Amino acid sequence: MSHLMENQFSIKNKNIVITGAAGILGKKLSQSLLNSGAHLALIDKDEKTLNKLKKDLKIAEDNFFEIYVTDLTKEKEVNKTIKSLSKKFNSIDVLINNAASKGNSIKDFLLPFEDYKLSTWNSIIEGNLTSMFLMSKGIGKIMKNQNYGSIIQIASIYGVTTPKNDVYEGSFYNGYKISTPAVYSVSKSGVIALTKYLASYWGKYNIRVNTISPGGIFSGQNENFVKNYSKKVPLGKMASGNDIVGTSIFLSSDASSYITGQNLIVDGGFTL
Ligand SMILES: NC(=O)c1ccc[n+]([C@@H]2O[C@H](COP(=O)([O-])OP(=O)(O)OC[C@H]3O[C@@H](n4cnc5c(N)ncnc54)[C@H](O)[C@@H]3O)[C@@H](O)[C@H]2O)c1
Repeated sequence: MSHLMENQFSIKNKNIVITGAAGILGKKLSQSLLNSGAHLALIDKDEKTLNKLKKDLKIAEDNFFEIYVTDLTKEKEVNKTIKSLSKKFNSIDVLINNAASKGNSIKDFLLPFEDYKLSTWNSIIEGNLTSMFLMSKGIGKIMKNQNYGSIIQIASIYGVTTPKNDVYEGSFYNGYKISTPAVYSVSKSGVIALTKYLASYWGKYNIRVNTISPGGIFSGQNENFVKNYSKKVPLGKMASGNDIVGTSIFLSSDASSYITGQNLIVDGGFTL
């Protein structure tokens, strides 16, 4: 631990586990946290993209990272990965539960509620919520033994408020009409509830557990969506990956040492 560090915002030499590292936000988080001097265990089920990330990431100083191909909905795989990363990293300072899933078919993910398939519902709950249960369970055990740790869980504004239908009129992403299904909101509300539960449950072991709820992050949504969405945001624009990185560094660092159980909503004011 870095109690003696002069800069309480520093995450230099902290060991940080990031799930969903191969995704849009995961990639950004990985490079930014490396730039800040952290050592990283990067987890994703997407082997190809994770291997590409391994090639692309630049080590800033004397820090390092390892990659672990893991399906976070499979308890055996999760436990195997936690076992091997705990051999490599002699402590775990931070876990960032960032992975989330849109299931196997975007078409099914976006079906209207009346037609929603149980199989899709179950797979989104597993990908978004059960994965965080399994990772928090395994890494939390290690943090309990260390008597410190910070767990950061990425939820969404749609875990605290409902999607606004008019934002989606004429809005497309990768050729699909955009919407946010109920199961996404429900899974993210579940993430916020899990955070609060664990913050209370593990407080006596000096483990802090917090949620970050990002607003819509710009990643190539069409002009119509960006325009409609930005109108609902007091700061007048979509989030960037960097906005979420800054909050993650804060919650990883000792600067946030008296903050636990909170949901930091990083949305430019969308939910006000
Ligand atoms: N992009 C946004 O606008 C936005 C807004 C609010 C919240 N969020 C949240 O931020 C987080 C990151 O979002 P993103 O846009 O980078 O998503 P993304 O889809 O680009 O990345 C998610 C990553 O998680 C991985 N993943 C999914 N299921 C997995 C599993 N079972 N095991 C292992 N890895 C798995 C995927 O392979 C992918 O690399 C998510 O929790 C998302 O819900 C995103």
